[in-house]
Amino acid sequence: MNSYILPTYNRAKLSFHKGKGSYLITKKGKKYLDFTSGIAVTSLGHSNNDLIKVLYHQSKKLWHCSNAYEILEQEKLAKKLVNLTFADFVFFCNSGAEAVEAAIKIARAYYQIKKKKNKYKIITIKGSFHGRTLATIAASGQEKLLNGFKPVVEGFTPVLFGDHQAIEKAIDNKTAGIMVEPILGESGIKKIPIECLEGLRKICNKKKILLIFDEVQCGIGRTGKLFNYQWSKIKPDILATAKGLGGGFPIGACLVTKQIAQGINFGSHGSTFGGNPLACAVANVVLDIISKKKFLKELNSKASFLYNELEKIKKENLNIIEEIRGQGFLLGIKCNINNSILIKALRTNGLLVISASENIIRLLPPLNINKKEIIEAIKILKQTFKKLSLGKK
Ligand SMILES: Cc1ncc(COP(=O)(O)O)c(C=O)c1O
Repeated sequence: MNSYILPTYNRAKLSFHKGKGSYLITKKGKKYLDFTSGIAVTSLGHSNNDLIKVLYHQSKKLWHCSNAYEILEQEKLAKKLVNLTFADFVFFCNSGAEAVEAAIKIARAYYQIKKKKNKYKIITIKGSFHGRTLATIAASGQEKLLNGFKPVVEGFTPVLFGDHQAIEKAIDNKTAGIMVEPILGESGIKKIPIECLEGLRKICNKKKILLIFDEVQCGIGRTGKLFNYQWSKIKPDILATAKGLGGGFPIGACLVTKQIAQGINFGSHGSTFGGNPLACAVANVVLDIISKKKFLKELNSKASFLYNELEKIKKENLNIIEEIRGQGFLLGIKCNINNSILIKALRTNGLLVISASENIIRLLPPLNINKKEIIEAIKILKQTFKKLSLGKK
């Protein structure tokens, strides 16, 4: 096909006509089990009836309204997020990168208002992923993201994953905070152990700097709690989220405590579309569903079933699988052969998965997937891996 779209993506030659629950369906009616969820976005599957209803209902009332006015759906959503988390305030935007940008700006603004203008640097993990804006690629410190877009935005100190000493060493009197993805998604489903998250909090307290979590991918129920940090005893000062929050409708959010929000005032930050009534109406329903204890309990039980089955598949195919990573429905299979070969073979067999760095196959099923569908995916994984594993012997 002759495409007029700027070629920023290397797309598979496959398109979908519709989606229903955990499946994507082509025009010819071929069904694919969708373990990508639009990269952790369609948290409640495709064409979810509750979301269709609220979107339809809201679309008849009000689509868009300027943030110059009060937006009731936005107020409702902010109140829910505050009640469910550490935060006192929420800023709404349209994507993950914007939520992270807001987090960075809020951190800088806090120190500016405290008359510590020199405190603006943020320590990050080298190779992490925070989005595609100039500041968020600088935060990741990844050459492949920065290449072609220099000069690099100043103010980020990326340190190696797992190097605790490097973090402490990198802190100086210009450091404003530490920003991490509690589970590095794009960068290979690498989990920061809970003790380490707690350790980061201690460092931040000791050095009087801010702890910022990027839960754009691992938030909104994906790891079995509404936010991943809720598995730990600690709280961040700022948290960015997006993806699953709108279940497919674009929305991002930056959560912050009252103390740290001090630098933000009228006109200091904003977004035309952020917190739009349509997006917030949908996100309110997504959040109501995902934050229910019963929903998260079921999710955790389905996810451990999938994890255990993946471990079994690994044991049967040690020549091509090295490791199973992740938590909840943010899982990774580290492969010993080129992951793109496996991804293609799985696709041919009706299962859609996505790659991540370090030769990983990422599994991101919808959070409301049922056990029968998980079993179907396991069957495809088993068959595909067995065939490729035999071919390697
Ligand atoms: C952890 C994390 N942060 C930020 C982003 C950027 O989100 P968006 O693509 O919505 O801008 C992503 C996207 O994959 C992500 O995984």
